[in-house]
Amino acid sequence: MEKIRIGVIGIGDISDVYLNNLKKYDAVEVVACASRGLEKAQRKAAQHGIPKAYASGAEVIADPDIDLILNLTTPQAHYEYNLAALKAGKHVYTEKPLAMTYEQGKELVSLAREKGLLIGCAPDTFLGGRLQNIRELIDSGKLGRITGGGAYFVGHGHEFHHPAPAFFYQPGAGPLYDMGPYYMTALLSLLGPVKRVCAMTTKAGETRTVPSGPSKGQVLPVDVDTHINAILEFACGSIVTLTCSFDVWDSELPRMELYGTEGTVLIDEKDPISGPNLFGGDTLLRTPAQYRWADPERRPENVETPWTVVPNAHPFNSVSHEENPRGIGLVDMVYAMHNHRAPRASGDMALHSLEVMECILKSAHEHVFCEPETTFERPAPLPLDFPNSEN
Ligand SMILES: NC(=O)c1ccc[n+]([C@@H]2O[C@H](COP(=O)([O-])OP(=O)(O)OC[C@H]3O[C@@H](n4cnc5c(N)ncnc54)[C@H](O)[C@@H]3O)[C@@H](O)[C@H]2O)c1
Repeated sequence: MEKIRIGVIGIGDISDVYLNNLKKYDAVEVVACASRGLEKAQRKAAQHGIPKAYASGAEVIADPDIDLILNLTTPQAHYEYNLAALKAGKHVYTEKPLAMTYEQGKELVSLAREKGLLIGCAPDTFLGGRLQNIRELIDSGKLGRITGGGAYFVGHGHEFHHPAPAFFYQPGAGPLYDMGPYYMTALLSLLGPVKRVCAMTTKAGETRTVPSGPSKGQVLPVDVDTHINAILEFACGSIVTLTCSFDVWDSELPRMELYGTEGTVLIDEKDPISGPNLFGGDTLLRTPAQYRWADPERRPENVETPWTVVPNAHPFNSVSHEENPRGIGLVDMVYAMHNHRAPRASGDMALHSLEVMECILKSAHEHVFCEPETTFERPAPLPLDFPNSEN
Protein backbone atom coordinates (compact mmCIF):
# COMPACT_ATOMS: atom_id res chain seq x y z
CA MET A 1 0.00 0.00 0.00
CA GLU A 2 1.38 3.41 -0.98
CA LYS A 3 1.99 5.75 1.91
CA ILE A 4 -0.15 8.86 2.04
CA ARG A 5 2.14 11.90 2.17
CA ILE A 6 1.13 14.45 4.76
CA GLY A 7 1.87 18.17 5.02
CA VAL A 8 1.24 19.73 8.43
CA ILE A 9 0.17 23.35 8.88
CA GLY A 10 0.44 24.71 12.45
CA ILE A 11 3.16 23.34 14.67
CA GLY A 12 2.17 24.59 18.13
CA ASP A 13 1.31 22.92 21.42
CA ILE A 14 -0.50 19.82 20.10
CA SER A 15 1.75 19.13 17.10
CA ASP A 16 4.32 16.88 18.85
CA VAL A 17 1.56 14.51 19.96
CA TYR A 18 0.42 14.06 16.35
CA LEU A 19 3.92 13.91 14.89
CA ASN A 20 5.05 11.27 17.40
CA ASN A 21 1.96 9.13 16.84
CA LEU A 22 1.89 9.27 13.06
CA LYS A 23 5.42 7.78 12.99
CA LYS A 24 3.90 4.54 14.32
CA TYR A 25 1.78 3.90 11.21
CA ASP A 26 3.08 2.62 7.87
CA ALA A 27 0.09 4.01 6.00
CA VAL A 28 1.23 7.61 6.41
CA GLU A 29 4.37 9.71 6.21
CA VAL A 30 4.76 13.34 7.25
CA VAL A 31 6.82 14.93 4.47
CA ALA A 32 6.50 18.64 5.25
CA CYS A 33 5.53 21.08 7.97
CA ALA A 34 4.85 24.79 7.96
CA SER A 35 4.72 27.59 10.43
CA ARG A 36 4.42 31.33 10.10
CA GLY A 37 8.20 31.53 10.28
CA LEU A 38 10.69 29.33 8.41
CA GLU A 39 13.04 28.95 11.35
CA LYS A 40 10.35 27.53 13.62
CA ALA A 41 9.29 25.10 10.88
CA GLN A 42 12.90 24.04 10.30
CA ARG A 43 13.36 23.35 14.02
CA LYS A 44 10.23 21.19 14.12
CA ALA A 45 11.25 19.39 10.92
CA ALA A 46 14.68 18.60 12.38
CA GLN A 47 13.12 17.41 15.68
CA HIS A 48 10.87 14.91 13.89
CA GLY A 49 12.97 14.03 10.83
CA ILE A 50 10.51 15.73 8.45
CA PRO A 51 12.15 16.27 5.02
CA LYS A 52 10.70 19.71 4.15
CA ALA A 53 9.97 22.90 6.10
CA TYR A 54 7.96 25.83 4.78
CA ALA A 55 7.35 29.40 5.97
CA SER A 56 3.61 29.38 5.19
CA GLY A 57 0.61 27.10 4.93
CA ALA A 58 0.12 28.20 1.32
CA GLU A 59 3.53 26.74 0.37
CA VAL A 60 2.69 23.31 1.84
CA ILE A 61 -0.64 23.29 0.06
CA ALA A 62 1.13 24.12 -3.24
CA ASP A 63 3.63 21.23 -2.84
CA PRO A 64 2.73 18.60 -5.50
CA ASP A 65 4.32 15.83 -3.38
CA ILE A 66 1.65 16.14 -0.69
CA ASP A 67 -1.59 14.15 -0.72
CA LEU A 68 -3.17 15.26 2.55
CA ILE A 69 -3.08 18.40 4.69
CA LEU A 70 -3.15 18.00 8.46
CA ASN A 71 -4.41 21.31 9.82
CA LEU A 72 -3.22 21.95 13.39
CA THR A 73 -3.65 25.71 13.39
CA THR A 74 -5.84 27.58 15.85
CA PRO A 75 -9.59 27.38 15.09
CA GLN A 76 -9.69 30.83 13.51
CA ALA A 77 -7.46 29.57 10.63
CA HIS A 78 -9.13 26.16 10.07
CA TYR A 79 -11.59 27.17 7.34
CA GLU A 80 -9.07 29.16 5.29
CA TYR A 81 -6.55 26.30 5.04
CA ASN A 82 -9.09 23.51 4.77
CA LEU A 83 -10.71 25.31 1.84
CA ALA A 84 -7.40 26.10 0.13
CA ALA A 85 -6.23 22.49 0.51
CA LEU A 86 -9.42 21.05 -0.98
CA LYS A 87 -9.28 23.55 -3.84
CA ALA A 88 -5.72 22.35 -4.50
CA GLY A 89 -6.96 18.74 -4.68
CA LYS A 90 -5.62 17.58 -1.30
CA HIS A 91 -7.44 15.49 1.27
CA VAL A 92 -7.83 17.22 4.65
CA TYR A 93 -7.75 16.16 8.27
CA THR A 94 -8.26 19.07 10.61
CA GLU A 95 -8.23 19.77 14.30
CA LYS A 96 -11.61 20.75 15.69
CA PRO A 97 -13.75 22.56 14.99
CA LEU A 98 -14.11 21.88 11.25
CA ALA A 99 -14.63 25.62 10.70
CA MET A 100 -15.85 28.64 12.68
CA THR A 101 -19.40 28.53 11.34
CA TYR A 102 -21.85 25.95 10.06
CA GLU A 103 -22.04 27.70 6.66
CA GLN A 104 -18.26 27.42 6.25
CA GLY A 105 -18.32 23.77 7.36
CA LYS A 106 -21.07 22.98 4.85
CA GLU A 107 -19.04 24.54 2.05
CA LEU A 108 -16.00 22.41 2.99
CA VAL A 109 -17.89 19.13 3.17
CA SER A 110 -19.72 19.70 -0.11
CA LEU A 111 -16.54 20.82 -1.89
CA ALA A 112 -14.76 17.65 -0.70
CA ARG A 113 -17.66 15.54 -1.96
CA GLU A 114 -17.73 17.37 -5.30
CA LYS A 115 -14.00 16.84 -5.80
CA GLY A 116 -13.93 13.21 -4.60
CA LEU A 117 -11.66 14.13 -1.67
CA LEU A 118 -11.89 13.12 1.97
CA ILE A 119 -12.24 15.56 4.83
CA GLY A 120 -11.93 14.28 8.37
CA CYS A 121 -11.94 16.10 11.66
CA ALA A 122 -10.81 15.69 15.25
CA PRO A 123 -11.66 14.77 17.89
CA ASP A 124 -10.90 11.10 17.37
CA THR A 125 -11.08 10.33 21.09
CA PHE A 126 -14.36 8.49 20.47
CA LEU A 127 -12.16 5.80 18.88
CA GLY A 128 -10.42 5.32 22.24
CA GLY A 129 -10.90 2.16 24.29
CA ARG A 130 -13.33 3.58 26.81
CA LEU A 131 -15.85 5.08 24.41
CA GLN A 132 -15.62 2.01 22.16
CA ASN A 133 -16.33 -0.13 25.22
CA ILE A 134 -19.43 1.94 25.99
CA ARG A 135 -20.42 1.68 22.35
CA GLU A 136 -20.25 -2.12 22.67
CA LEU A 137 -22.42 -2.01 25.81
CA ILE A 138 -25.04 0.06 23.98
CA ASP A 139 -24.97 -1.95 20.74
CA SER A 140 -25.21 -5.26 22.61
CA GLY A 141 -28.39 -4.04 24.33
CA LYS A 142 -26.86 -4.48 27.82
CA LEU A 143 -27.80 -0.90 28.80
CA GLY A 144 -31.27 -1.21 27.31
CA ARG A 145 -32.71 1.92 25.71
CA ILE A 146 -30.80 5.10 26.55
CA THR A 147 -33.37 7.45 28.04
CA GLY A 148 -31.01 10.27 28.88
CA GLY A 149 -27.64 11.37 30.07
CA GLY A 150 -25.41 14.16 31.24
CA ALA A 151 -22.16 15.43 29.70
CA TYR A 152 -20.47 17.99 31.89
CA PHE A 153 -17.20 19.69 31.10
CA VAL A 154 -16.25 22.27 33.71
CA GLY A 155 -12.99 24.01 34.59
CA HIS A 156 -11.57 27.52 34.73
CA GLY A 157 -10.03 27.85 31.29
CA HIS A 158 -6.85 26.77 29.52
CA GLU A 159 -4.85 29.86 30.56
CA PHE A 160 -3.62 27.77 33.50
CA HIS A 161 -1.63 25.40 31.28
CA HIS A 162 -1.53 26.59 27.63
CA PRO A 163 1.44 28.73 26.52
CA ALA A 164 -0.67 30.99 24.23
CA PRO A 165 -4.28 30.85 25.48
CA ALA A 166 -5.79 33.99 23.85
CA PHE A 167 -7.52 32.02 21.07
CA PHE A 168 -9.62 30.06 23.58
CA TYR A 169 -11.69 33.22 24.26
CA GLN A 170 -12.36 34.06 20.62
CA PRO A 171 -15.21 32.83 18.36
CA GLY A 172 -14.40 29.33 17.14
CA ALA A 173 -13.25 28.34 20.64
CA GLY A 174 -14.61 29.03 24.15
CA PRO A 175 -15.68 26.02 26.22
CA LEU A 176 -18.38 25.09 23.70
CA TYR A 177 -16.29 24.96 20.50
CA ASP A 178 -13.04 23.92 22.21
CA MET A 179 -14.11 21.24 24.73
CA GLY A 180 -17.69 20.73 23.49
CA PRO A 181 -16.60 18.73 20.40
CA TYR A 182 -15.16 15.96 22.62
CA TYR A 183 -18.39 15.52 24.54
CA MET A 184 -20.54 16.10 21.47
CA THR A 185 -18.60 13.63 19.30
CA ALA A 186 -18.67 11.04 22.08
CA LEU A 187 -22.45 11.41 22.25
CA LEU A 188 -22.92 11.46 18.47
CA SER A 189 -20.82 8.32 18.03
CA LEU A 190 -22.86 6.55 20.73
CA LEU A 191 -26.37 7.88 20.11
CA GLY A 192 -26.42 9.15 16.51
CA PRO A 193 -27.71 12.51 15.25
CA VAL A 194 -29.36 15.26 17.32
CA LYS A 195 -32.95 16.23 16.47
CA ARG A 196 -33.57 19.32 18.62
CA VAL A 197 -31.68 21.65 20.91
CA CYS A 198 -32.45 24.25 23.56
CA ALA A 199 -29.91 26.17 25.62
CA MET A 200 -28.97 29.09 27.83
CA THR A 201 -25.53 30.68 28.05
CA THR A 202 -23.69 33.37 30.00
CA LYS A 203 -20.17 34.48 30.89
CA ALA A 204 -18.41 35.33 34.13
CA GLY A 205 -16.49 38.34 32.80
CA GLU A 206 -15.32 40.36 29.79
CA THR A 207 -11.59 39.70 30.34
CA ARG A 208 -9.29 37.08 31.88
CA THR A 209 -5.73 37.51 33.08
CA VAL A 210 -3.26 34.71 32.35
CA PRO A 211 -2.04 33.52 35.76
CA SER A 212 1.22 31.78 34.82
CA GLY A 213 3.45 30.53 32.01
CA PRO A 214 4.96 32.44 29.08
CA SER A 215 1.85 34.67 28.68
CA LYS A 216 1.62 35.51 32.41
CA GLY A 217 -0.13 38.83 33.09
CA GLN A 218 -1.64 39.10 29.59
CA VAL A 219 -5.24 40.34 29.71
CA LEU A 220 -7.41 38.34 27.33
CA PRO A 221 -10.64 39.75 25.91
CA VAL A 222 -13.49 37.24 26.36
CA ASP A 223 -15.55 37.38 23.14
CA VAL A 224 -17.44 34.10 23.67
CA ASP A 225 -19.94 32.70 26.14
CA THR A 226 -18.03 30.84 28.85
CA HIS A 227 -20.85 28.99 30.62
CA ILE A 228 -23.21 26.95 28.45
CA ASN A 229 -26.13 24.75 29.45
CA ALA A 230 -27.91 22.86 26.69
CA ILE A 231 -30.41 20.06 26.35
CA LEU A 232 -29.99 17.83 23.32
CA GLU A 233 -32.77 15.61 22.06
CA PHE A 234 -31.36 12.83 19.89
CA ALA A 235 -33.22 11.27 16.96
CA CYS A 236 -33.07 7.95 18.88
CA GLY A 237 -35.14 9.57 21.66
CA SER A 238 -32.42 10.11 24.31
CA ILE A 239 -32.35 13.47 26.08
CA VAL A 240 -28.92 14.63 27.27
CA THR A 241 -27.87 17.65 29.31
CA LEU A 242 -24.64 19.24 28.08
CA THR A 243 -22.71 21.73 30.22
CA CYS A 244 -19.51 23.36 28.97
CA SER A 245 -17.90 25.93 31.22
CA PHE A 246 -14.66 27.84 31.72
CA ASP A 247 -16.24 29.59 34.75
CA VAL A 248 -16.03 26.85 37.40
CA TRP A 249 -13.19 26.99 39.94
CA ASP A 250 -13.67 23.44 41.13
CA SER A 251 -16.36 20.82 41.49
CA GLU A 252 -16.96 17.08 41.41
CA LEU A 253 -17.21 17.31 37.61
CA PRO A 254 -16.31 16.74 34.79
CA ARG A 255 -18.08 13.53 34.01
CA MET A 256 -20.30 12.00 31.41
CA GLU A 257 -23.02 9.48 32.15
CA LEU A 258 -25.72 7.73 30.18
CA TYR A 259 -28.93 6.40 31.67
CA GLY A 260 -30.16 3.17 30.09
CA THR A 261 -33.28 1.23 31.01
CA GLU A 262 -30.91 -1.58 32.13
CA GLY A 263 -28.18 0.44 33.82
CA THR A 264 -26.13 3.62 34.17
CA VAL A 265 -22.72 3.99 32.57
CA LEU A 266 -20.24 6.56 33.82
CA ILE A 267 -17.05 8.26 32.67
CA ASP A 268 -15.76 9.86 35.85
CA GLU A 269 -12.76 12.13 35.82
CA LYS A 270 -11.28 14.26 38.54
CA ASP A 271 -8.70 15.91 36.28
CA PRO A 272 -10.62 18.92 34.94
CA ILE A 273 -9.05 18.64 31.49
CA SER A 274 -9.76 15.00 30.91
CA GLY A 275 -12.87 12.94 30.19
CA PRO A 276 -14.04 12.17 26.66
CA ASN A 277 -11.10 14.32 25.51
CA LEU A 278 -8.78 11.46 26.41
CA PHE A 279 -8.83 8.00 24.89
CA GLY A 280 -8.80 5.58 27.78
CA GLY A 281 -10.00 4.88 31.27
CA ASP A 282 -12.43 2.74 33.19
CA THR A 283 -15.95 2.09 31.99
CA LEU A 284 -18.08 2.19 35.14
CA LEU A 285 -21.49 0.55 35.32
CA ARG A 286 -24.37 0.24 37.78
CA THR A 287 -27.22 -2.15 37.04
CA PRO A 288 -30.78 -2.39 38.46
CA ALA A 289 -29.57 -5.22 40.76
CA GLN A 290 -27.18 -2.73 42.42
CA TYR A 291 -29.83 -0.05 42.91
CA ARG A 292 -29.61 1.11 46.50
CA TRP A 293 -33.34 1.67 46.98
CA ALA A 294 -34.13 -1.87 45.79
CA ASP A 295 -32.52 -3.29 48.94
CA PRO A 296 -34.43 -2.58 52.17
CA GLU A 297 -31.34 -3.51 54.22
CA ARG A 298 -29.26 -0.71 52.76
CA ARG A 299 -31.92 1.91 52.21
CA PRO A 300 -31.76 3.73 55.54
CA GLU A 301 -28.00 4.04 55.65
CA ASN A 302 -27.30 5.84 52.37
CA VAL A 303 -24.58 3.28 51.62
CA GLU A 304 -22.27 4.08 48.72
CA THR A 305 -23.00 1.65 45.87
CA PRO A 306 -19.79 0.54 44.17
CA TRP A 307 -19.42 0.89 40.42
CA THR A 308 -18.59 -2.24 38.43
CA VAL A 309 -15.60 -1.82 36.11
CA VAL A 310 -16.63 -3.29 32.75
CA PRO A 311 -13.85 -5.47 31.20
CA ASN A 312 -12.32 -3.75 28.21
CA ALA A 313 -10.46 -5.45 25.36
CA HIS A 314 -10.41 -2.39 23.09
CA PRO A 315 -7.14 -0.81 21.93
CA PHE A 316 -6.17 2.81 22.67
CA ASN A 317 -7.29 2.58 26.29
CA SER A 318 -4.30 4.17 28.00
CA VAL A 319 -4.99 6.84 30.63
CA SER A 320 -1.52 8.29 30.36
CA HIS A 321 -1.21 11.83 28.98
CA GLU A 322 2.04 10.69 27.31
CA GLU A 323 0.41 7.81 25.43
CA ASN A 324 -2.07 10.06 23.72
CA PRO A 325 -2.93 8.46 20.37
CA ARG A 326 -4.37 11.60 18.69
CA GLY A 327 -4.25 11.07 14.95
CA ILE A 328 -5.79 7.59 14.78
CA GLY A 329 -8.81 9.25 13.16
CA LEU A 330 -6.49 10.41 10.37
CA VAL A 331 -4.94 6.94 10.06
CA ASP A 332 -8.43 5.43 9.93
CA MET A 333 -9.36 7.92 7.18
CA VAL A 334 -6.33 6.87 5.13
CA TYR A 335 -7.31 3.19 5.41
CA ALA A 336 -10.88 4.18 4.53
CA MET A 337 -9.55 5.79 1.37
CA HIS A 338 -7.63 2.63 0.39
CA ASN A 339 -10.43 0.24 1.31
CA HIS A 340 -13.31 2.28 -0.15
CA ARG A 341 -15.23 2.53 3.09
CA ALA A 342 -16.51 5.44 5.20
CA PRO A 343 -13.99 7.12 7.51
CA ARG A 344 -14.98 7.17 11.17
CA ALA A 345 -13.92 10.70 12.19
CA SER A 346 -15.86 11.96 9.19
CA GLY A 347 -16.56 15.43 7.85
CA ASP A 348 -20.29 14.59 7.99
CA MET A 349 -20.20 13.90 11.74
CA ALA A 350 -18.00 16.96 12.36
CA LEU A 351 -20.39 19.12 10.34
CA HIS A 352 -23.34 17.87 12.38
CA SER A 353 -21.41 18.58 15.58
CA LEU A 354 -20.63 22.11 14.34
CA GLU A 355 -24.26 22.70 13.39
CA VAL A 356 -25.49 21.47 16.79
CA MET A 357 -23.04 23.83 18.55
CA GLU A 358 -24.31 26.71 16.43
CA CYS A 359 -27.87 25.65 17.28
CA ILE A 360 -26.96 25.81 20.98
CA LEU A 361 -25.86 29.44 20.62
CA LYS A 362 -28.88 30.31 18.45
CA SER A 363 -31.24 28.77 20.98
CA ALA A 364 -29.59 30.65 23.84
CA HIS A 365 -29.38 34.02 22.11
CA GLU A 366 -32.76 33.95 20.36
CA HIS A 367 -34.72 32.00 23.01
CA VAL A 368 -35.89 29.37 20.54
CA PHE A 369 -35.69 25.61 20.11
CA CYS A 370 -33.38 24.85 17.17
CA GLU A 371 -33.45 21.81 14.86
CA PRO A 372 -30.29 20.96 12.93
CA GLU A 373 -30.77 20.20 9.22
CA THR A 374 -27.79 17.86 8.85
CA THR A 375 -27.51 14.22 9.75
CA PHE A 376 -24.78 11.55 9.49
CA GLU A 377 -24.24 7.79 9.66
CA ARG A 378 -22.97 6.65 13.06
CA PRO A 379 -19.33 5.56 12.52
CA ALA A 380 -18.73 1.81 12.59
CA PRO A 381 -17.10 0.49 15.79
CA LEU A 382 -13.31 0.28 15.65
CA PRO A 383 -12.13 -3.35 15.23
CA LEU A 384 -10.27 -4.72 18.25
CA ASP A 385 -7.18 -5.35 16.11
CA PHE A 386 -7.11 -1.99 14.30
CA PRO A 387 -5.03 -1.21 12.23
CA ASN A 388 -4.09 -4.87 11.53
CA SER A 389 -7.72 -5.37 10.52
CA GLU A 390 -7.03 -3.20 7.44
CA ASN A 391 -5.41 -4.54 4.26
N1 LIG B 1 -3.09 22.13 22.91
C1 LIG B 1 -3.82 21.07 23.12
O1 LIG B 1 -3.70 20.39 24.17
C2 LIG B 1 -4.82 20.64 22.11
C3 LIG B 1 -5.42 19.38 22.29
C4 LIG B 1 -6.30 18.92 21.33
C5 LIG B 1 -6.62 19.71 20.26
N2 LIG B 1 -6.07 20.95 20.11
C6 LIG B 1 -6.47 21.74 18.95
O2 LIG B 1 -5.35 21.86 18.08
C7 LIG B 1 -5.39 23.13 17.40
C8 LIG B 1 -4.12 23.86 17.69
O3 LIG B 1 -4.01 24.05 19.09
P1 LIG B 1 -2.60 24.33 19.79
O4 LIG B 1 -2.86 24.22 21.23
O5 LIG B 1 -1.54 23.50 19.16
O6 LIG B 1 -2.42 25.87 19.40
P2 LIG B 1 -1.06 26.71 19.35
O7 LIG B 1 -1.46 28.14 19.40
O8 LIG B 1 -0.09 26.20 20.33
O9 LIG B 1 -0.50 26.36 17.90
C9 LIG B 1 -1.16 26.76 16.74
C10 LIG B 1 -0.18 26.82 15.58
O10 LIG B 1 -0.87 27.29 14.42
C11 LIG B 1 -0.13 28.33 13.82
N3 LIG B 1 -1.05 29.25 13.15
C12 LIG B 1 -2.09 29.90 13.68
N4 LIG B 1 -2.68 30.65 12.74
C13 LIG B 1 -2.00 30.43 11.61
C14 LIG B 1 -2.11 30.94 10.29
N5 LIG B 1 -3.07 31.80 9.94
N6 LIG B 1 -1.22 30.50 9.36
C15 LIG B 1 -0.25 29.60 9.68
N7 LIG B 1 -0.10 29.10 10.92
C16 LIG B 1 -0.96 29.52 11.85
C17 LIG B 1 0.62 29.00 14.98
O11 LIG B 1 1.75 29.72 14.52
C18 LIG B 1 0.99 27.78 15.81
O12 LIG B 1 2.16 27.15 15.30
C19 LIG B 1 -6.65 23.84 17.90
O13 LIG B 1 -7.71 23.63 17.01
C20 LIG B 1 -6.94 23.15 19.24
O14 LIG B 1 -8.32 23.16 19.54
C21 LIG B 1 -5.15 21.41 21.01
